[in-house]
Amino acid sequence: MSELAILGGKKTRTDAYPAWPVWDQRDIDAVTEVIKSGRWGGYPYPGPKTAELARKFSEMQGGGYAVPMTNGTVTMEVALRAAGIGWGDEVIVPAYTFQATASAPMAAGAIPVIVDVDPGSYCLDARAAEKAITPQTKAIIPVHLGSNMADMDAIMALAEKYNLVVIEDCAHAHGAKWRGMGAGTIGHFGSFSLQSSKTLTTGEGGILLCKTPELAAKAASIIDCGRPHALGGGEEDGSMEYQVGGNYRLSEISAALALVGIERFPAQARQREEMAAYMDEALSEVPGVRVLKRDVRHTTRSFYRYVFAINPQEFGVEHDVLCAALDAEGVDCWVGYEAMHNYKLFQPQKSRLAVPNAFPEYFDFEKMDLPTATRACEHEAVWLDEAIFRAGPQGVDEAVAAIKKIQGNALELSQAAEELRKKYS
Ligand SMILES: Cc1ncc(COP(=O)(O)O)c(C=O)c1O
Repeated sequence: MSELAILGGKKTRTDAYPAWPVWDQRDIDAVTEVIKSGRWGGYPYPGPKTAELARKFSEMQGGGYAVPMTNGTVTMEVALRAAGIGWGDEVIVPAYTFQATASAPMAAGAIPVIVDVDPGSYCLDARAAEKAITPQTKAIIPVHLGSNMADMDAIMALAEKYNLVVIEDCAHAHGAKWRGMGAGTIGHFGSFSLQSSKTLTTGEGGILLCKTPELAAKAASIIDCGRPHALGGGEEDGSMEYQVGGNYRLSEISAALALVGIERFPAQARQREEMAAYMDEALSEVPGVRVLKRDVRHTTRSFYRYVFAINPQEFGVEHDVLCAALDAEGVDCWVGYEAMHNYKLFQPQKSRLAVPNAFPEYFDFEKMDLPTATRACEHEAVWLDEAIFRAGPQGVDEAVAAIKKIQGNALELSQAAEELRKKYS
């Protein structure tokens, strides 16, 4: 009988990892209070809970003017529009991220220019970004991916040199800090998702941190059907004009849940950080595992997912089969995103989207050379669920034991790989 659970052996972890999101009576009370108040929606914007959320979230990240809205995709579209970026402008995005990072510029009429990521962090490579800059480049969207941060020093230097707007995609980086500065407060905008898998969640929601009150007022106006807003995202100001906008307001019910989430956040973040340091150490001893580089300037880490790389030769399989084997061992894991240039939806001949069809030369994916993102997406990246950290040292020990067990049975796994891939892909 095989030792490996995927081949019929015993599971390494038999208990499920803790569920997400977590909730208690405070969430029920917060939602009940809003229901009883009769002020459920987001109009007039901002409602009292939304305004409180804006204040507390800026405090939590250590800066910026926060504009809560419906999700962490619209946040980026609104940031671009608030900065005056639109049709035909180029926006640099990394090749390794969720599709929202590229679809948001397209929703604003801009062209996503896809560049490779850094092998140490899997975040946007500033050198690759610089090579892609043209006179049409107006913005850059670094993504703080999984548990890492993009090199914000290099990116802000590029922004200064080429006069670019920086929108940090912080969907994975609530609470993270770069040289003591909160993620999302370094660029002109920080875009946060509060979707249900995120480490601060309302089920669905987003927050845009803006560098100035002027940008926040514009953003608040765009998400409030174009109504004029006072500086700082406050109430309507008669001196401003209407602009084109839509309804992307956050509901008061969602804001109330996020406020409870903010109360819980510091203890959860501390536990994840402590357990991740423990995990770094344990994993660095496993043959074939590459722990991603910890940049000393990334002073506080946050963990949406814990990402590491494997050397497929040492495991006898690529990351997809390894992830299936880990799942079978009871360790929640994921292979991560597709490389951006593989998203079929963006291919002009397959989509009816305006931007790819108007500018097909930017979407010639066959010609793109993105070796690091391709290697991460197709062969080596492994994303472990943050629930492992909420299970404490035992949760981490069991995850590491499962990875070691799989590595120790690499030969057997490699012999079964083809069958397994058919079964699990
Ligand atoms: C990196 C990244 N950016 C943006 C988003 C979009 O957030 P939302 O789902 O709230 O629109 C997500 C995830 O969902 C994400 O992972």
